[in-house]
Amino acid sequence: MTAGFSRIGFILAAAGSAVGLGNIWKFPYVTGENGGGAFVILYLIAIAFIGLSIFIAESYIGKESRANAAAGYQAISKSNNKNWRWAGFQIFAGIIILSFYAFIIGWIIDYLIISVTGLPATIKEAEDTFTNLITHKIGTQILFHTIVVATMIFIALKGVKNGIEKLNLILMPLLALILFGLLMYSMTLDSFGKAIDFMFMPDWSKVTVDSVLAAVGQAFFTLSLGMGIIITYSASMAKDANFIKSSVFVAIVDTSVALIAGVIIFSFLFAAGAKSTAGPGLVFISLPLIFAGWGVFGQIIAVAFFCALLFAGITSAVSLLEPSVRYLVEKFDMSRVKAIFLASGFLYILGILALLSMSADYGEALTFLGKNLFDHMDYLTSSVALPISGFVTCIFLGYFVDKSELKAKFTSQTNVMVFNIWLVLVRYIVPVAIALLFLNKLEII
Ligand code: PHE
Repeated sequence: MTAGFSRIGFILAAAGSAVGLGNIWKFPYVTGENGGGAFVILYLIAIAFIGLSIFIAESYIGKESRANAAAGYQAISKSNNKNWRWAGFQIFAGIIILSFYAFIIGWIIDYLIISVTGLPATIKEAEDTFTNLITHKIGTQILFHTIVVATMIFIALKGVKNGIEKLNLILMPLLALILFGLLMYSMTLDSFGKAIDFMFMPDWSKVTVDSVLAAVGQAFFTLSLGMGIIITYSASMAKDANFIKSSVFVAIVDTSVALIAGVIIFSFLFAAGAKSTAGPGLVFISLPLIFAGWGVFGQIIAVAFFCALLFAGITSAVSLLEPSVRYLVEKFDMSRVKAIFLASGFLYILGILALLSMSADYGEALTFLGKNLFDHMDYLTSSVALPISGFVTCIFLGYFVDKSELKAKFTSQTNVMVFNIWLVLVRYIVPVAIALLFLNKLEII
């Protein structure tokens, strides 16, 4: 095994995993679609109660077992029960997510180039640029997908400390700097106040059951939960690190970045009188158009913005590979190099199939049971695998580990009240919330 994280390295890497496309791309558009302020409040509640409890739970499993996300469950289960290894299915879900996360990062590279060479000047052009990329520019997408996967392989080969930790040590401060600059600029716009109002003044009439579910789903995704990532990273955490404090810190950083990205993006959108409800196209269609209207200065802002998105994406992508790598190394006694190439090769090919399934030429061939391959993969992971694994993790720690040991470990890091609140959450509240979410998504209730 390679060397583990330093104390600060772990926090940075976990924050690097959490802060990703989910914060800068997805959070603003989901907030826009769900009416702003009220959704933000739901999201904050979901992070504080559901997301943070599971984050702490995963961190505990990793830190105590110091094993991969399958063996880790077995190692700390009451009677060393082998069946708990099945909880490791989440590692597989992670690699599926990574296969499409990688080519979406590829889109960002394409937009970085567009930012330099010329942004779309009309709404039609902006829409066509995006649609064209997905449906027709297969070669471009595969090229950037290859570059992203190769970068991940390169970092992973260098190991946890010299690869992942170093990458985060460089990219996270850069990301913070760019976001700070963009925030400062958005403050000079008249629309800044409107953006703040939109984000923080709740209009409860806009809230539906779906908004609640979207908030919980987003809390899961944004904290990188349910895919064995936090377990795997925590397994390389310094032995004397405080897993509760670092969990809280990462949740705060992640939430702050989402809120700041939201304020920046809505200031830009409102400055141009654009709508907040553009969905996934918000960042790839609405924003480029606005940047184009600002001339050369807009191009500079565009480059900064897409760089931020790229950096945030890469640090998350790298974290998604590690659970599989650690699993393969420990389970099959494989060399790290072999494990990296095996996992990456699999996700590389799956990613290409997924991107082809959205193209005009191959879409039909890769559509079955009413959805294309990409939609199936997205649905099976985000809506099925993630909630199930969150549920399993809560039930596991709530009922199937030695409680006095659990209590002792927690109270060595925090006070007993925090432990009690956490235990009530993972035993009762979070599993029920996830079960409701899950059944609703599957349209059973
Ligand atoms: N948390 C990352 C984000 O918000 C996404 C991610 C999900 C990363 C799952 C790793 C695993 O974009």
